[in-house]
Amino acid sequence: MCGIVGAIAERDVTHILLEGLKRLEYRGYDSAGMAVVSSTSGIERIRSLGKVKELENLLNDENFTGSTGIAHTRWATHGKPSEQNAHPHVCNERVALVHNGTIENHEQLRANQENQFKFTSETDTEVIVHQVCSYLDSGKSLFEAVLAASKDLVGAYALGVVSRDNPDILLAACYGSPLVIGVGVGEYFIASDISALIPVTQQYIVLEDGDIAEITRQSLQIIDKDGKTVDRPIKISELSVESIGRGKYKHYMLKEIYEQPSSISQTLEGRIHNNLLIEETFGINAAEIFDKVKNVQIIACGTSYHAGLIAKYWFESIAGIRCNVEVASEFRYRDPVVIEDSLIVTISQSGETSDTIAALNEAKRLGFGKSLAVCNVPESSLVRNSDLVLMTRAGPEIGVASTKAFTTQLVALMQLVLVIGRRYKVTDSIESEILGHLKSLPRVLEEVLKLDSEIEALAEDFNDKHHALFLGRGSQYPVAMEGALKLKEISYIHAEAYPAGELKHGPLALVDESMPVIAVAPNNELMGKLKTNLHEVKARGGVLYVFADESMLIESEDNMKVIPIIAVHNSIAPIVYTVPLQLLSYYVARLKGTDIDQPRNLAKSVTVE
Ligand code: F6R
Repeated sequence: MCGIVGAIAERDVTHILLEGLKRLEYRGYDSAGMAVVSSTSGIERIRSLGKVKELENLLNDENFTGSTGIAHTRWATHGKPSEQNAHPHVCNERVALVHNGTIENHEQLRANQENQFKFTSETDTEVIVHQVCSYLDSGKSLFEAVLAASKDLVGAYALGVVSRDNPDILLAACYGSPLVIGVGVGEYFIASDISALIPVTQQYIVLEDGDIAEITRQSLQIIDKDGKTVDRPIKISELSVESIGRGKYKHYMLKEIYEQPSSISQTLEGRIHNNLLIEETFGINAAEIFDKVKNVQIIACGTSYHAGLIAKYWFESIAGIRCNVEVASEFRYRDPVVIEDSLIVTISQSGETSDTIAALNEAKRLGFGKSLAVCNVPESSLVRNSDLVLMTRAGPEIGVASTKAFTTQLVALMQLVLVIGRRYKVTDSIESEILGHLKSLPRVLEEVLKLDSEIEALAEDFNDKHHALFLGRGSQYPVAMEGALKLKEISYIHAEAYPAGELKHGPLALVDESMPVIAVAPNNELMGKLKTNLHEVKARGGVLYVFADESMLIESEDNMKVIPIIAVHNSIAPIVYTVPLQLLSYYVARLKGTDIDQPRNLAKSVTVE
């Protein structure tokens, strides 16, 4: 999704802006732009379609410098990817503005403005810059103009604004779309994500919905939605330049796959005492909230939704409590029957997914009950809007395809299952046994990662394939779904997942020698039934790739390649079997030469509906 960077300093800021944009590339974008302002040259702007590298080339060619500026990466929502639609948008060479979010009443505002201003783009953003301009024309200051314009907007926005007449002011505002202010010495920065600013500062302030900030080199004033001057706390980011680098790895995705053992250790760190979970780590009032919970309502999107589906198996079979899971974009628009005293559990890597946030608000409005966010980003909107928080602590995930965020979500969710389950079926001995299995995960995953070169070789078989089927049963069905999602999003091979028992109810018709079928086969009570399903595939000439528990001693044979996986307890099997599927997708995509870390059309954090 779109990214914002801005800076006001004594020095040239163009390279800070450019570096910031590069650090936001992971969010997904199609064009980029930058504007600087000075008392001598007014507003200058460069924009380019495609990668930030193109913008960098322009920057070098044009001797473009300035000490106050804004920059943006755009992910098209209104209007196609093009240079004209790229931000910053400018009005009458007087104001330049970058925007994240979507403006729902842009058509109405455009209709009102069309007599007064010439439109040069198809974006919803352009109405904001014209609105600011028209308030400036009526005699308001830049701050007053941005404040007045923001009140006319319906929708979500994070804004960075500069003006020709005030080259020593940078304006920032947000509502429903995150924005932070980086604090330097005699300089300030803005960004949609603190990771963009890490090379220049680790100190930052999170703006709240409705805040507007007027920033000069020496001063910062924030006005909240009620017009009151507020002091927002300065925080210190734990990110380091190294933690957001690619290190020795060719892609962030591979780095993040390999980080899973250590990320999972972090998810468990400090939460267990005497082989039992410390309930207070879920929040000071967690016990009181958990005591009342009669139902768990999970809401999430994409990969995070798959984590929720696995958790449903765990909540019902291990904890013995009812659990519903729903895709956030569906939940928010239907009329669900309200189950009071539910715990609304949202799952999100970014904590900024617009559908998940809206669905949470809807569930609260309907009266489902208290909420808990399973999330990877401490300062995110979801975390701020939830009663309880369970951080996954995966560390920054840069690759668009979610990997370590997913497995750490599962580890966090299992912890939640166990503490809520204490009120139901979970005894101390069950809890400590499962915690023992969770604690073994870092070691187990190191073993699974040793399959790397075997899986790389296997990927060759998929290079000429256009479709693939993934099969699983029980809690491995969502693992199959996640495997299919990974393969399609980074290799662009069409992939579908089915519960293996559903095969003969339709999808079996697709099976022939050109349709690889990938099965995840841990050693559990459903194994016998899964074997029958695999025979059904073989009998139709299908080619099988089976990730199977090594203790079952299943041998490879004609049209069936078996990849043995270290034997593990059923409770952690979904986490373990996810990893080889991630590696498979990664290596298939690498053979296909796709843009693995930034797959086409996708964004890391989906902050628009
Ligand atoms: C897939 C992927 C997406 C996200 C989804 C939700 O690899 O990353 O499907 O899982 O967009 O994002 P979060 O978890 O940030 O809410």
